[in-house]
Amino acid sequence: MTTRLDFDGPVILGAGLAGLTAALAAKTALVLSPTPLATGCSSAWAQGGMAAALAGDDSPTLHAADTIAAGAGLCDPEAVELLTREGPQAVRDLAALGAPFDRKADDSFVLSLEAAHSAARVARVGGDGAGAAIMAAVVAAVRATPTIEIRETARARRLLQDATGRIVGVLAQINGALVEIRSTAVILATGGVGGLYAVTTTPAQVRGEGLGLAALAGATIADPEFVQFHPTAIDIGRDPAPLATEALRGEGAILRNTDGRAFMADYHPAKELAPRDVVARALHAERAAGRGAFLDATAAVGAHFPHEFPAVFEACMSAGIDPRRQMIPVTPAVHYHMGGVATDLDGRTSLPGLYAAGECASTGVQGANRLASNSLLEAAVFGARAGRAAAAEGAAGGEPVSLAPLPDLPEPALQGLRQAMSRDAGVIRDASGLTRLLGQLEALEAAHGPCPPLVAARLIVDAALARQESRGGHYRSDFPATAEAVRSFVVREGTAAPRRQAA
Ligand code: SIN
Repeated sequence: MTTRLDFDGPVILGAGLAGLTAALAAKTALVLSPTPLATGCSSAWAQGGMAAALAGDDSPTLHAADTIAAGAGLCDPEAVELLTREGPQAVRDLAALGAPFDRKADDSFVLSLEAAHSAARVARVGGDGAGAAIMAAVVAAVRATPTIEIRETARARRLLQDATGRIVGVLAQINGALVEIRSTAVILATGGVGGLYAVTTTPAQVRGEGLGLAALAGATIADPEFVQFHPTAIDIGRDPAPLATEALRGEGAILRNTDGRAFMADYHPAKELAPRDVVARALHAERAAGRGAFLDATAAVGAHFPHEFPAVFEACMSAGIDPRRQMIPVTPAVHYHMGGVATDLDGRTSLPGLYAAGECASTGVQGANRLASNSLLEAAVFGARAGRAAAAEGAAGGEPVSLAPLPDLPEPALQGLRQAMSRDAGVIRDASGLTRLLGQLEALEAAHGPCPPLVAARLIVDAALARQESRGGHYRSDFPATAEAVRSFVVREGTAAPRRQAA
């Protein structure tokens, strides 16, 4: 039996930094979270911090230039300009909410350098604890706002759409029961696609659900082929794989193979601080050649590990590796999705009534390769903008044309999909692997129907096959050169045409 709930405001799917920032900006919102707040979202796991031009010798213009350089030709300059201009205030706003950023004696922010940044501009908390601490502050603020309702163990089973294509609410499963929620707007803040891959640093339940739901409703999806692989997930057989933050390399940690040889000079003059995709491919190559890959922070961090990088230290120690004295085994792992539901600068998608923010959105700021520590920033800046814009939507729209839940992907099929995605749509791709994978996806969809994770995987694979070049996070061994810089905008076949064109 399906019950009905009418909500006079936006419904927000997802409770990471983008979703909760949107809720605070909207002031009145209903947040649906699949897990208890701050437990199942990538934001809470972020080790790096928030990049923003907070230092006297830095500027939003420099931050924008670094973001655009990392994005490998596909960033939207207007979106980047907005992100970097609003960045410092976004950090201060989170600090005012209670996020305990590391400070110097004069109360200015302690700022770290990360790869491909031309200045130290990453605001951190307790070394590698930024995500958890920021989320704790935001969750407290949301819980203290009586006009924000929260439903945990709630997940979306379909976007409700009227005959014109407008989104008029969501069919949710809350504590196992189906609820038809009618609302003035829906904001997708469901995170990325890590759980579609066998090796990921993100919570495994983050598996492209928002992307799939939006695509099935006919929303325009941008650049889905661009998946970022973090070079240094800790390879201790854990799912998801714990992260060894890039800041360790910022501190001077060295990548070595089993023989102890530092190999990054073979791949890029910037060595350990080369762009993330270059380092990920170098590790992939070393591992594929049987030489292994390790992060050696014994000299650079050594005895300071427990207080400077407590999360990494704890993950290593739990697997019997003492990073003060031993090298850390590392592997590339899916870390971030640059592609997503195409939005304008206020989070509007191509479908009236539907907004997106955070990793599941494509605002155009991340291009083909996200600059480190720009993701929490994007979630805060664009989450707030989406929340404000969605709150301004008045009640509109007709009756939903379908109330049927979309199918779920059975666990064994999902696990098979994850292995196949890592093998054939991973760090290195080619036409033969992608074609084989496409066949597998078609067979899975024939067997199980259009499950949102399958639809999300299909978007990645179709676009990866169509992009016959290498750029940023997308590397084709059969097309290693870079071609003309063109973004991908796709609408799933068989859906209604979008009613409003995203920027
Ligand atoms: C890291 O700390 O290495 C990750 C930071 C990021 O992906 O932004």
